[in-house]
Amino acid sequence: MHAINTKKELIERLRDIRPSNSLGLVPTMGALHKGHLELIKKAASENKYVVVSIFVNPTQFNNIDDLNKYPKTLAKDLELISKVDMDILVFAPSVEEIYDDSVKAKNYDFGGLDKVMEGKFREDHFNGVGTIVEQLFSIIKPNRAYFGEKDFQQLRIIEKLVESQDIPVQIVPCPIVREDHGLAMSSRNERLSNETRLKAGFIYKTLQTAKEQFGTKSALDIKEWVKNQFLENDDFELEYFEIMDVETLTPIKSKTTNVKYRAFVAVYANEVRLIDNIALN
Ligand code: PAF
Repeated sequence: MHAINTKKELIERLRDIRPSNSLGLVPTMGALHKGHLELIKKAASENKYVVVSIFVNPTQFNNIDDLNKYPKTLAKDLELISKVDMDILVFAPSVEEIYDDSVKAKNYDFGGLDKVMEGKFREDHFNGVGTIVEQLFSIIKPNRAYFGEKDFQQLRIIEKLVESQDIPVQIVPCPIVREDHGLAMSSRNERLSNETRLKAGFIYKTLQTAKEQFGTKSALDIKEWVKNQFLENDDFELEYFEIMDVETLTPIKSKTTNVKYRAFVAVYANEVRLIDNIALN
């Protein structure tokens, strides 16, 4: 493992590597968990070299409190990465290194993918994600980049970014990794009490039942059922539950053959915001 803090050093380091070797990128905001490790291991199995970026990107937070409370555990992260059976390059820049004087996001046209769910509740979030990911692609020029399906909307938006800007990188989607009782792994889980963390298996259980119901019930009935499940549960507050066409991220009207659907949920557990999703067909 080799940690680098500046674009200049990283570019120099990659100059000799890139022309003749495959290079994988795993972009992260640190506070690494088993889900990240799966992405890193997959990248290591498919590429000769791997860069893991660790950068808590301020422009994708619409809430300063959320940014300030985001766990920052660089020393622990580096230790975890050093256990992977490959000499990983870690890029951990400062905010100034990435944004110079102006900590601002670019404005993108994601064709409406950013107007629903996370985009609706977290204004400008995806402009911030696009800004940092585009910059990482431009500095590192990876052959492949690895993103978890837990942030499925983010994954679709990055696919759109790559397609619309003609960026020569393969986006590799990776399945959601879950804790034993079903909670999707997330850096934010660290902020839950042990008790709430155990109870949060309820979120995935609800998604699984919604999936079972998808065969026989209407989307409207499923939405109503999910809403009631959360109303009856004092530990979690539902922000949204949506059933979307995975290509367009538009809400289902009526089930259409050959269209793939996913159910998406965002939930508050006290002040901690959790998201999850499940493929329905
Ligand atoms: O998914 C994340 O951790 C972040 O949104 C990403 C892709 C690293 C961009 O900051």
